[in-house]
Amino acid sequence: MDEKKTSLKARKTSLFKKLLALSVLGSAFSLYYLSEPSNSHVENELMRSGSGIFPSGSSLTEEVLKETYLKALETNYAGNWSEKYTSEPHLPGTNYGFVEWTARKFEEYGLKSEVDTYDIYVSYPHEHSLKLLSSEDELVYEAPLKEDELEEDPTSVGDDLVPTFLAYAANGNVTAEFVYCNYGTKGDFDLLKANGVDVTGKIAIIRYGSIFRGLKVKFAQENGAVGVLLYSDPGDDFGITPENGYDTYPNGPARNPSSVQRGSVQFLSARPGDPTTPGYASKPGVPRADPHDSIGKIPVLPISYKEVKPILTKLNGYGKSAEKIGGEGWVGELSNFSYSLGPNPEYKLNLYSDQIYNITPLWNVYGTIPGKNPKEVIIIGNHRDAWIKGGAGDPNSGSAVILEIARGFNELTKLGWKPERTIIFASWDGEEYLLLGSTEFGENFAKQLQLKVVAYLNLDVACIGSRLEMGASPVLNSLLRSVAKKLPYPKGGTLYSHFVEKANDKIHNLGSGSDYTVFLERLGIPSVDMSFTVDVHDAVYQYHSNYDSFYWMSRFGDPGFVYHNLMAKYLGLIALELSEKKLIDFKIKDYATELQNYYQSTIASIPDDWTDKPASFAGFFEHFQNNKFIEEITDSNYKSEVKCNAKTSKKTKKHHHHHHGNFTLSKLTNKVSKQLEDLILVAALFDDKVSEAQFAYDNSDDLSLWQKLKLRLTIRSLNNKLKFFERNFLFHKGLKDRSWFRHIVFASGRYTGYEGQTLPGLKEAIEDNDIEEAARWLGILMGTIKRVKAGLK
Ligand SMILES: *[C@@H]1O[C@H](CO)[C@@H](O)[C@H](O)[C@H]1NC(C)=O
Ligand SMILES: *[C@@H]1O[C@H](CO)[C@@H](O)[C@H](O)[C@H]1NC(C)=O
Ligand SMILES: *[C@@H]1O[C@H](CO)[C@@H](O)[C@H](O)[C@H]1NC(C)=O
Ligand SMILES: *[C@@H]1O[C@H](CO)[C@@H](O)[C@H](O)[C@H]1NC(C)=O
Repeated sequence: MDEKKTSLKARKTSLFKKLLALSVLGSAFSLYYLSEPSNSHVENELMRSGSGIFPSGSSLTEEVLKETYLKALETNYAGNWSEKYTSEPHLPGTNYGFVEWTARKFEEYGLKSEVDTYDIYVSYPHEHSLKLLSSEDELVYEAPLKEDELEEDPTSVGDDLVPTFLAYAANGNVTAEFVYCNYGTKGDFDLLKANGVDVTGKIAIIRYGSIFRGLKVKFAQENGAVGVLLYSDPGDDFGITPENGYDTYPNGPARNPSSVQRGSVQFLSARPGDPTTPGYASKPGVPRADPHDSIGKIPVLPISYKEVKPILTKLNGYGKSAEKIGGEGWVGELSNFSYSLGPNPEYKLNLYSDQIYNITPLWNVYGTIPGKNPKEVIIIGNHRDAWIKGGAGDPNSGSAVILEIARGFNELTKLGWKPERTIIFASWDGEEYLLLGSTEFGENFAKQLQLKVVAYLNLDVACIGSRLEMGASPVLNSLLRSVAKKLPYPKGGTLYSHFVEKANDKIHNLGSGSDYTVFLERLGIPSVDMSFTVDVHDAVYQYHSNYDSFYWMSRFGDPGFVYHNLMAKYLGLIALELSEKKLIDFKIKDYATELQNYYQSTIASIPDDWTDKPASFAGFFEHFQNNKFIEEITDSNYKSEVKCNAKTSKKTKKHHHHHHGNFTLSKLTNKVSKQLEDLILVAALFDDKVSEAQFAYDNSDDLSLWQKLKLRLTIRSLNNKLKFFERNFLFHKGLKDRSWFRHIVFASGRYTGYEGQTLPGLKEAIEDNDIEEAARWLGILMGTIKRVKAGLK
């Protein structure tokens, strides 16, 4: 064992002991860089007055930093890190070697590294089988449930491969007839029911696509299915199929017919994180809850299209035609299958799945560059765990990019750079099983994170193609665009012109499915998620299969690791803009404008007969009296500030109950519309103030001492408003029936999982035909907008 290894082990042990000791004492443990400095705020500011606060004519200008950074990335080691991370299996909570290696790389690049452990409820594969039986119990076909070993791709061969399985699928052994259920969305099951197709007691065969896989299982279970088979249909490969003349992997870009998508079947939109510790961190000794609000009770297996074919073709001619009940959207491209729904009384399936359920340690690795201002923190994160030995796209393209950014920043620290704001790199564990490492971290350090973090920048599948796709909190949109304008795109033009051409300049809203979820949707921290994904003629991504390998990445995904390199440049520059600009580089008007768009599209779905039905709408008045803007959260006011949006004054309630008569809903929606229009104006003025302050700072040489002091106070106040702006959109009581989610603008769609739902409370009340609940959410929105408006003025 070499020295470095020993010291890392020692650090881990001592951290662990510290955690144990502190949890016994009942006090909260904070990582050093997240804890408050011992001096008081004012004292601290005063101590640091003088040259450090204003430009000192240092040669390390923002321009020099950026040039140096880009120069460092003219060499490209992304392929090296990709090769390393794809060389061994690394399911969540396994492969401590990769934990140590990551921590060592962080240290090599000048970061202070540490390992943070959580004890999490997980499942690992043990045994499984799938048999097609005749009604007389004769074995007709047994699916091998294995992917083909390919000579060309060394990652697909060997005795250390991860079996095909779905984490958190229940253990079971069921035998039943089977039916085809399309994508298994809520709407699909509703349509089956409406057409008299009874799923009760059957095994549901569902194709991947459209929504998050765990919700397919949830809806199948709610409809009475006893088991589920999830398969990849070539119809979802965007035409890159053998039928259309494309060769299959490894000879061509089409999906290998034996490729299986592993994954988690946890119910993402209920809440992410450890199923047994809802809303709190999985530390040793904490109470454990029944996990079944977020995981299912029926067995599920994933299967390739090659292996599901002999099973599905047995439905040909039995039951209704999928196309007749649902149209083209119900028909895939599995050859020889007629897309009949079944069942066929002549055949049944025996589905057996057994996994080992266990509470086991998972390890996040952090690497820090302490900033001049430790009260403002930027986090750049990516998960390390993968479903398979490879995982070149998911997540190791992200892991490779993160290391490249750290390497680039190291060239800056070598010049004596200390960032304005603290930068933390995070390598999460257990993202695949459902955002475990990041969620437990977010729950563990909720308070410090809400006090300090300016933005969270996420990578996951950073690079599997050439098309840039981004989701973000709208405060970051302008920054994302301006940085993209500075980088050339490999096929010509700038990264920004590419984005305009391919994505129509659309930065989408965040839903869920990656590690930004806890930051944005529970803690109110502006977040970004980005990737170079598959473009029209790019190869099919062999998602969560053995073929998401280094060989696939080098031949098909990103030959030369060119887009990995571009991503490292792009995200690194974004982080530098965020850390170095004196004024936090957010645009509030973009947020207000998007909010208005979300609002208009949401109220457009209000049923006609709601609009002028009179009612007292008591719920509307419950929340909208709180005008206090969160502009400074401190240790001592933390509790009251984060709960601010849920405060209900009894006096207010009574007052309105007695003095207001009945309203119509349209009157309420108009009130909110009016507030939103005002907010856009106020936000634009606020953005101007920020630009002016930045300009004054950049040109502060000739200011008098008095003017400098005044400017410093202005900057501090503006930065606090920018930093805490998004926290104002949290509703402490959370969303209806899923209180883990607290953001009133962004959430994981309850029926989709990955795809986001904007203004979820209001939208779901409309979907549920609940007018009082809709009025309540209008009130919450109104109250929020009013106080944000007041705070920005
Ligand atoms: C990266 O990989 C290349 C090609 O295998 C090798 O020549 C080079 O030494 C590696 N560099 C590092 C820093 O590992
Ligand atoms: C599963 O159940 C079938 C009968 O229903 C039985 O024959 C088989 O042995 C069971 N498999 C296991 C592994 O228990
Ligand atoms: C599948 O369909 C093709 C025509 O599309 C036919 O040539 C072939 O024989 C069929 N195979 C089986 C096993 O039915
Ligand atoms: C207000 O609306 C309620 C129904 O929501 C109705 O029962 C009541 O009579 C109305 N009151 C007035 C003053 O219109």
